[in-house]
Amino acid sequence: MSELDLPVPSIPNARDAVRALRPSQIREVANAGFGVDDVLPFWFGESDRVTPAFIRDAASTALASGATFYTHNLGIAPLRAALASYVSELHGATSPDHVAVTSAGVNALMLAAQLVVGAGDRVVAVTPLWPNLVEIPKILGAHVETVALGYGERGWQLDVGQLLAALTPDTKMLMINSPNNPTGWVMSRDDQRTVLAHCRRHGIWIVADEVYERLYYADADSPASGAHARTAPSFLDLAARDERVICVNSFSKAWLMTGWRLGWIVAPAVLMDDLAKLVEYNTSCAPSFVQQAGIAAVQQGERFTHELVLDLRASRDHLVRALSAVPGVDVKAPLGAMYLFFSMPGAAHSLELCKAMVREVGLGVAPGSAFGPQGEGFVRWCYACDTARLDAGVERLKRFLARHGTV
Ligand SMILES: Cc1ncc(COP(=O)(O)O)c(C=O)c1O
Repeated sequence: MSELDLPVPSIPNARDAVRALRPSQIREVANAGFGVDDVLPFWFGESDRVTPAFIRDAASTALASGATFYTHNLGIAPLRAALASYVSELHGATSPDHVAVTSAGVNALMLAAQLVVGAGDRVVAVTPLWPNLVEIPKILGAHVETVALGYGERGWQLDVGQLLAALTPDTKMLMINSPNNPTGWVMSRDDQRTVLAHCRRHGIWIVADEVYERLYYADADSPASGAHARTAPSFLDLAARDERVICVNSFSKAWLMTGWRLGWIVAPAVLMDDLAKLVEYNTSCAPSFVQQAGIAAVQQGERFTHELVLDLRASRDHLVRALSAVPGVDVKAPLGAMYLFFSMPGAAHSLELCKAMVREVGLGVAPGSAFGPQGEGFVRWCYACDTARLDAGVERLKRFLARHGTV
């Protein structure tokens, strides 16, 4: 008898921290839609348009010219330089030594958390929130406390006093996402100032997820101009580059590059050697030809992003108007991102509601509870598509409500 004929030890499990992670409820709703023909999907955070041609062409050219090798852990020098200029223009002087290229925003969040938190550390996050920000620190064994935005007449608002109270001196890191997914809430400059000062006092790291910074719909300095501001208020506008602030960003939203997996981090220069080690052990580098395409996006993409934001603002307003006309729906136009997070009849059990809507009328929206218990009572609708499709979705929502006798 060989040793391999002995009984196999008990069935293996993943670590407790991993088993305790919450599975995606958006995925659960999508699974309920399998087998339903003709689903209108508004549940994921991406546009239905492809990446602009000038970026795809840059990737093709890079690929054709042999950009197929590993790169520096922190990204190719021309992309780091291009990003440093881009960030400097938007948020003040930033050198390439403060910039690292990552494999999109989600990897940037993981790297930022790996740099700063470990087992037993206390992390605070403002919710409702895209689940990755809450779950990532838990993978590392950290303990996450949440502070909820409130919903009222003026839409989603932060009680900054409540946040400061949660940011106790033993807190290691604040994870904050503005413009926010799912609510579209945008943190005000004054609140950023207050929170930064408090975190400085207590040595708390701020990880600012600003992947939606360009999807911002407030008017520029003079509202009469009709021009929108180029970017939402950023912690980078206030923070020194060499303090405990790590800013996470992505090519996914401003240049419609979700499938490319390219992002970046702005962080203190002193962290970069350690960050390079983490990149090495996670992904080694972002794909070489994708990084070349990133240069085209940041250097030639301003006009595209400007027009994208105008289109998104028009879609937002169109959907707010259409949903406001549906009895029982309470919706407000948020200042940023690309979602409406609204209440409607049945949303007190949002997961069940969203599964029923996809099964019965092929309407695919995300349940509020996917974004934490504070999101229960709401549903999230991504409006990054043309208005005809939005209208078709609203018709389905009305049909669903009529069928259930709620309108
Ligand atoms: C708040 C937030 N942060 C980060 C990301 C990461 O996006 P990506 O990994 O595509 O850059 C997303 C994606 O939807 C998001 O909503």
